[in-house]
Amino acid sequence: MGVVGDPGLERLLTALHARSDEQVATMRSYDIQREARPPTEDAVKAFRSDKLVALDRDKAELCYQLCRASNARRIVEAGTSYGVSTIYLAAAVRDNVAAGGGSGVVIGTEYEPQKAAAARTHFEAAGLSRFIDLREGDLRETLKQIDGPVDFMLVDIWIAMARPALELVAPHLRPGAMVVCDNTEQHRDAYADYFAFINDPANGFRTMTLPFDGGLELSVRCASR
Ligand SMILES: C[S@@+](CC[C@H](N)C(=O)[O-])C[C@H]1O[C@@H](n2cnc3c(N)ncnc32)[C@H](O)[C@@H]1O
Repeated sequence: MGVVGDPGLERLLTALHARSDEQVATMRSYDIQREARPPTEDAVKAFRSDKLVALDRDKAELCYQLCRASNARRIVEAGTSYGVSTIYLAAAVRDNVAAGGGSGVVIGTEYEPQKAAAARTHFEAAGLSRFIDLREGDLRETLKQIDGPVDFMLVDIWIAMARPALELVAPHLRPGAMVVCDNTEQHRDAYADYFAFINDPANGFRTMTLPFDGGLELSVRCASR
């Protein structure tokens, strides 16, 4: 049993992770071909449109744990896809609410309509829809409106969108809020503009790369900026 500790949810998550893992080999060989013969941006988008690209299970479980430890109630996720990581985040919100009362929400965002539709089906199956505000469209629009302080942010998005997403959410991060970003070791150079933002003292983050596969960035918004 995983850390979420809910047999029904664990079964759903195991099936979704398995489906995502099956697609990894196809994605790797596509990436190799891309280097030899770069496809158009539209062709890349079409290829990726049915791929889950779910956050690895151990990373998603860490997010669940961090959200429980910090009693997170307001979470933003940049990059929802079929909703795998969203389910972990929403389960943490559900469990925080059950333990301490009050309310909470995960704001997710996804610009591929068929992925958003599949994610909603998974949220229903997980019984977590009431904790999720899935915003369909480009995050540069959908994340413009954030009400209230944000406790936790997951950045699991095409790399070029990582900084724009963080820039929109950063003004709403409460002191002590955490931002987790995937694959920062593997794609260090591509994340250069993201790190420029994180490491700018004016933005008040302390950051470290955790030794998960590909590297997982854990940045904390410190109280004194
Ligand atoms: C790595 S996947 C997210 C995986 C997800 N966190 C999970 O664990 O299941 C990144 C997703 O971001 C979406 N995406 C990319 N650019 C976007 C943008 N500008 N606005 C909204 N969604 C975007 C892609 O369609 C893709 O589904």
